[in-house]
Amino acid sequence: MPHERPRRLRATPAVRRLVAQTRLHPADLVLPVFVRDGITEAQPIGSMPGVVQHTPDSLLAAASEAVEAGVGGIMVFGVPRDEDKDAAGTAGTEPDGILNRALRLLREELGQRTVLMSDLCLDEFTDHGHCGVLDGRGRVDNDATLVRYAEMALAQAAAGAHVVGPSGMMDGQVRVVREALDAAGHEDVAVLAYTAKYASACYGPFREAVASTLTGDRTTYQQDPANRTEALRELRLDLAEGADMVMVKPALPYLDVLSDVVEVADVPVAAYQVSGEYSMIEAAAQRGWVDRDRMVMETLTSVRRAGAQVVLTYYAVHAARLLAEQRA
Ligand code: PBG
Repeated sequence: MPHERPRRLRATPAVRRLVAQTRLHPADLVLPVFVRDGITEAQPIGSMPGVVQHTPDSLLAAASEAVEAGVGGIMVFGVPRDEDKDAAGTAGTEPDGILNRALRLLREELGQRTVLMSDLCLDEFTDHGHCGVLDGRGRVDNDATLVRYAEMALAQAAAGAHVVGPSGMMDGQVRVVREALDAAGHEDVAVLAYTAKYASACYGPFREAVASTLTGDRTTYQQDPANRTEALRELRLDLAEGADMVMVKPALPYLDVLSDVVEVADVPVAAYQVSGEYSMIEAAAQRGWVDRDRMVMETLTSVRRAGAQVVLTYYAVHAARLLAEQRA
């Protein structure tokens, strides 16, 4: 006969609930959203069933719904019209560019009822699709890009973002953004640094979501999936440069990295369940190969168990509703 019987604490839903070490709460979740210029109706994204490119109006409705569901924050990505893309990503810094317009609308309508976050990166706005500006030889020019990021931070802060999320993996990006914000009186705007962002195939569907024109890849600035300690180096730099929160991305294939970062970071750590992670669940669930709701809860719970305090997920509202049903 066994001396120890761990099954005792698994015997009923009540005891399992009592001893559960990880809990999900809607307030821990952030909903990433897309807003597209030049459309009159929300457009479905083929590779992300259930996710759309919003008009400003439909974005406001979706954001309000997320707030009602108790979701903790909203991360906004802008999709400009093709003809507004250029080599410098100008539409990203113009006050009436689609992202800044949408931020202004959400801040005016939702005020302090949510945490409004903005993606701070050029790839949605450049005609070549890279996250920065290019030098004469077609390479992503780190330091010239930093100048653009500083301008973008100011435009987003002026539009009402509570948090800006530099996601381009340029060296020194957190420092220039922090300094630009402080110099312009935006000391209260926080920086969520994409600290460990890997060059991942999991961003595939996102490229459709933002109508990206990228040819080639991002391997000269995003991290190599083979590397682990490099994430701690990026963390050290981001903290020294003034990051208020740090993020690991993608989430599920990088739980080891997430756990490493959580162990040493003294700021909140976020993880991003990215487009490809969403689409993998959707594709299998549509075929009846996996149970969607259980996959959603299990993956989000695992990301929290690995230590993420905040989880960005396209399932934020869906998960919030599942959690409300569970409580009822
Ligand atoms: C860069 C950015 C990307 C994502 C978030 N910010 C794309 C990339 O780096 O290629 C991906 C998010 C997702 O796949 O859900 N602006």
